[in-house]
Amino acid sequence: MNHTVGRRAVLAAPLFVSLLLSGCVAERPTSSRKIDPSNATVGVSMPTKYLERWSRDGGNLDRLLKEAGFSTSLQYADNKPDMQFSQIQNMINQGVDVLVIAPIDGTMLAPVVDLAAEKGIPTVAYDRLIEATEGIGYYVSFDNRTVGSYQGQYLVDTLNPDPQKPKNVELFGGSPDDPNAAQFFGGAWDVLAEHFESGAFTSPSGKVPTSPDGWKQIGILGWDSAQAQSEMQTRLNSFYADGTELHAVLSPNDSLALGIAQALDARGYKVGNNWPLLTGQDADKANVMNIIAGKQSMTVFKDTRKLGERAFTMVDQIIKGADVEVSEGKEYNNGKKDVPTYLLDPAVVTKDTYKEILVDSEYYTEADLGL
Ligand code: BGC
Repeated sequence: MNHTVGRRAVLAAPLFVSLLLSGCVAERPTSSRKIDPSNATVGVSMPTKYLERWSRDGGNLDRLLKEAGFSTSLQYADNKPDMQFSQIQNMINQGVDVLVIAPIDGTMLAPVVDLAAEKGIPTVAYDRLIEATEGIGYYVSFDNRTVGSYQGQYLVDTLNPDPQKPKNVELFGGSPDDPNAAQFFGGAWDVLAEHFESGAFTSPSGKVPTSPDGWKQIGILGWDSAQAQSEMQTRLNSFYADGTELHAVLSPNDSLALGIAQALDARGYKVGNNWPLLTGQDADKANVMNIIAGKQSMTVFKDTRKLGERAFTMVDQIIKGADVEVSEGKEYNNGKKDVPTYLLDPAVVTKDTYKEILVDSEYYTEADLGL
């Protein structure tokens, strides 16, 4: 392995103070391969362009890298792990200097990341961790566990749990092959478990995890909206057709929330009458419009501009052989190593806050949201 994270760098005093204040430390890349910044190429591999967030992610990062004078090779893999594997292999063969990868499957890419490391090409895992490889250099993401805990906390705060008045809550998990999905569910479950135990919350479908990996049984492969819709339809038909009230649905992200909302619509649920609470993540346009219409209660916003900027900064620091800033004490273990990680903070968006958080910051214009 040519590129590994080495010893903590000795920092000049002013930089040290400012990094300490921001909770960051610096890691010095010890790549044996010197990159010429005036002639550097960055390979960017994204899961799919058909989910709004990834197409924004890819576009933002590509633009920042080009503006800095780097060449780029940006590829989307249509949510197909095999395609992503061979796209990255090709990037390595074409001689990219750094890889930025948002994996579709958390573990499947380990061999190709190892290959990159053997050739001295550093890899940054973007948003999702790449597991089971020592070859990975860095990870940049939002605090995934906090995302889940915000979703769970929203339900707790809004439903006022009371074992004397049990509330019906249906649970969904993300894609079982995505390591983030475990974090999202874990964060939500940290908050929700005690209320399922006390009887304040219950799931008429019985789809409640009974083991740490149990969430995978309620996971929706590929984060697919249509599958989430059909799963919700089945639960509504089987457990709620007799008029049983549905109070809330824990959805880990917006693509699932869209499918769930469609199932509720199709079954005749009405906002202001019997529409349940519904969580999400990403602040995709269609979901923010659903929030405005009362069909989704909240989403967790992960500003892809900030993620792109931080990924860009990491790549820039790697290419220039500078110290790479990471968050102190926030390493993620990928089964093979503690990966130096930069974590960003997510934010809850509701009907009351979307203007301030999304429109004032120019993430969306009012026209984007049909206002
Ligand atoms: C990302 C989420 C996204 C989901 C589906 C996760 O790994 O962190 O933001 O909604 O994948 O693409």
